[in-house]
Amino acid sequence: MEKIVRVQHFEKTFGKEKAIKDVHFEVEKGEIFGLLGPSGSGKTTTIKVLTGELSAPSGEISVLNYTPKQFRDSNFKKQLGILSDNSALYERLTVEDNLKLFCKLYEVPINRVDEVLTNVKLLDSKKKVVSKLSKGMKQRILLAKAIMHKPRLMFLDEPTSALDPLSVTQIHGVLRDLRDEGITIFLTTHNMEEATVLCDRVAFLHEGVIKEIGKPDELRYKYSTGDFHIKTIDGERMVIGNKPESADEISRLIKSKRIKRMETHYPTLGDVFVDITGKELM
Ligand SMILES: Nc1ncnc2c1ncn2[C@@H]1O[C@H](COP(=O)(O)OP(=O)(O)OP(=O)(O)O)[C@@H](O)[C@H]1O
Ligand SMILES: [Mg+2]
Repeated sequence: MEKIVRVQHFEKTFGKEKAIKDVHFEVEKGEIFGLLGPSGSGKTTTIKVLTGELSAPSGEISVLNYTPKQFRDSNFKKQLGILSDNSALYERLTVEDNLKLFCKLYEVPINRVDEVLTNVKLLDSKKKVVSKLSKGMKQRILLAKAIMHKPRLMFLDEPTSALDPLSVTQIHGVLRDLRDEGITIFLTTHNMEEATVLCDRVAFLHEGVIKEIGKPDELRYKYSTGDFHIKTIDGERMVIGNKPESADEISRLIKSKRIKRMETHYPTLGDVFVDITGKELM
């Protein structure tokens, strides 16, 4: 599988503070790769370095086979689609006029406006003034803007943060469609549910260090203990180890008809994060 992003021994220091510490990861062509971590863990810093917005740090970095020294190359920028806190629209203009402006900027034919609005399922809102759109709709227009020039690789910094569940689902749909068209997507989030349903692979970033990388379900499986989590009819909760010595205790509980629910431990991605870092993600 082609590696679109390669990062080895990546470090980034601000003054005396090391924000990123000896990080290694690779992003494969056509996957949705999620960088997960709590506030201040270094997610935005990583995106800014990989897109050339922050100066070249130490380590070996290659994005679309460009090294940081080549990130100023206009051919590099043309292949990236970026959605960040700084992405903005002209509030007083219509959706169509906004996107036409970006067509000129990116030197792409004007018919891209309808194509990208179809991609984000907002063609009906073409004539609306941006200030009248909901937050979720604006975010989808920003996504439309980010794909205007048909990028190969997208960097999305918390694309669904502070959106309602329906808008989140709609954006996930758009991102899956883009992935299915062969676009590679690198996103950050601190929403573990989002990462579980959306990302092909995730990396856990904590205090500038990558703690784990893998497919969400594989990580959940790896960190499952197999212990029995039992809730009794009188509301008591207990955890009993999945081992031969537990058989008598479980048998006693079953015979006394005290068990209301019993399940083997299969952690959420959030549980795995807590397990590894000792910290809640939010
Ligand atoms: N320009 C800067 N100058 C100095 N320190 C910075 C700068 N940008 C980031 N940092 C520091 O680097 C660390 C990582 O910040 P970063 O913004 O990458 O975190 P994040 O994971 O994106 O957090 P959030 O989820 O809140 O967006 C923090 O300690 C932050 O204070
Ligand atoms: Mg950030």
